[in-house]
Amino acid sequence: MSTRLNKYIASAGLCSRRKADELISNGNVKVNGAVVNEMGFVVEDGDRVTVNGRLIEGEKPKVYVVLNKPLGYITSMDDDKNRATVADLVSDIPERLFPVGRLDYNTTGLLIMTNDGELTYSLTHPKHEVDKTYIATVSGVLSGKRLAQLRKGVDIGGFVTSPARVRVLRQNPRSAVVEITIHEGKNRQVRKMFAAGGNQVQSLERVAIGELKLGRLKEGHYRKLTRQEIEYLKGL
Ligand code: URA
Repeated sequence: MSTRLNKYIASAGLCSRRKADELISNGNVKVNGAVVNEMGFVVEDGDRVTVNGRLIEGEKPKVYVVLNKPLGYITSMDDDKNRATVADLVSDIPERLFPVGRLDYNTTGLLIMTNDGELTYSLTHPKHEVDKTYIATVSGVLSGKRLAQLRKGVDIGGFVTSPARVRVLRQNPRSAVVEITIHEGKNRQVRKMFAAGGNQVQSLERVAIGELKLGRLKEGHYRKLTRQEIEYLKGL
């Protein structure tokens, strides 16, 4: 890919384009070892650009994947206790991808990973209220009263949750399978919401973020997001 030198320097996050022009005209910039004073100089893939002797890496391509997180992985890039992390599951991708938000160690399902910091910020910002849908298997019976409480809002210890969408998919004699959609992201929120009514979460899987669905992706596997999915997430 070819890029104008000032844009290349600015998009590496070093400075503004105007400041990059200044650096270029002051002779602070070298391309492949030679000083370049020309603003319109075009950098090609593989060129070595230095500013005051420091190597500049151009804007990294943005990568977006959806991972089906298995049990027993932490949503972090590294762990001081040496547990497996979701980074291990995308380690064949050369770019360093970060998880968008968190899933508990014991939660499975849809996790977006990307190196696009802006998208991460907007999807996780509380004010954007992006819906997240989970399938929970919980102990006991979900009475009409408990369902009504979950739908209205539950005190999970100093915080009352916003109204949730809740649907019982199956009531077994001693457990229930429930679909729940929330837009907040408090620590262990879904587990706490059910526990507040006496139902313990036995398994929890995130199946959707907005309209983005986990689908048939196998646990431990990832797939790249489509262009349409990326545009959709950016528009949320
Ligand atoms: N709510 C939880 O309790 N755990 C998760 O991992 C996600 C939402």
